[in-house]
Amino acid sequence: MESGPDLLPSFPSWLIAAYYRWAALLNRLSPWIELDGMRLRVEPSVYKPIQNEVRVAPHVPTGRDVLDVGCGSGVLGLAAAPRSASVLAIDVNPAAVRSTRLNAERLGIRNLEARQGDAASLELGRCFGVVLCGPPFSEADLAGVERRWASAPGFTPRLFERASQDWLADDGLLIVHHMARARAALEALGRQHHLALVAEHPNHRKGAKLHALAWLYAQVGLRTTFFVFGRRPRPIENGPRT
Ligand SMILES: C[S@@+](CC[C@H](N)C(=O)[O-])C[C@H]1O[C@@H](n2cnc3c(N)ncnc32)[C@H](O)[C@@H]1O
Repeated sequence: MESGPDLLPSFPSWLIAAYYRWAALLNRLSPWIELDGMRLRVEPSVYKPIQNEVRVAPHVPTGRDVLDVGCGSGVLGLAAAPRSASVLAIDVNPAAVRSTRLNAERLGIRNLEARQGDAASLELGRCFGVVLCGPPFSEADLAGVERRWASAPGFTPRLFERASQDWLADDGLLIVHHMARARAALEALGRQHHLALVAEHPNHRKGAKLHALAWLYAQVGLRTTFFVFGRRPRPIENGPRT
């Protein structure tokens, strides 16, 4: 299987699994998070968007159909929804789909549909102007619910493959929220799948509340960026001269 940018390579799987259980306990104790006025409820087995993922909104072109891949709490799709024609949010974890539906309902967002499915195989039968994704940062191969939550071997390479082959309209954009230091690895995946990095928007600035949460959730010092990919222009073929 093609591997993606595993940026936590030195941690053994048992430690990552223990970390997920810690984060799930924190979510159970306090399921809510408020980001730029958007209040989200996050189930224990769902990633809490403490990296300020809501800040994707200004980078999403207006009026397009959006696909949010691995939606978790729904944060990316919910942030994009007010400026988009429609949002389809998918996640392999049923708890994430439930969280996304509930959050959309509570926020009065009506143009978002959430569906359970595996991004590797789900057939959608249509194209999108924007594909959004906050991939799992770790590629550790875990079992059970921890695996669904944030570790998924091969997720990011498969994301680029499916975005390029199945999901993106010709003028579509793939927006990936990832650690800033994943840049080279993501660009390499882009090249493999005929997608070029056309913009990057650092998402480093976080308020005191998010800094405190980052300590609690042991995600201190992660510097993330929204990486924007578009289709590479096809080389013009030189046909035989007549
Ligand atoms: C790091 S979380 C990001 C959640 C959300 N997009 C955000 O930015 O907060 C990654 C999400 O990908 C989902 N996921 C992992 N493997 C998947 C797959 N094969 N198909 C669909 N979703 C998957 C996980 O369940 C998780 O919700």
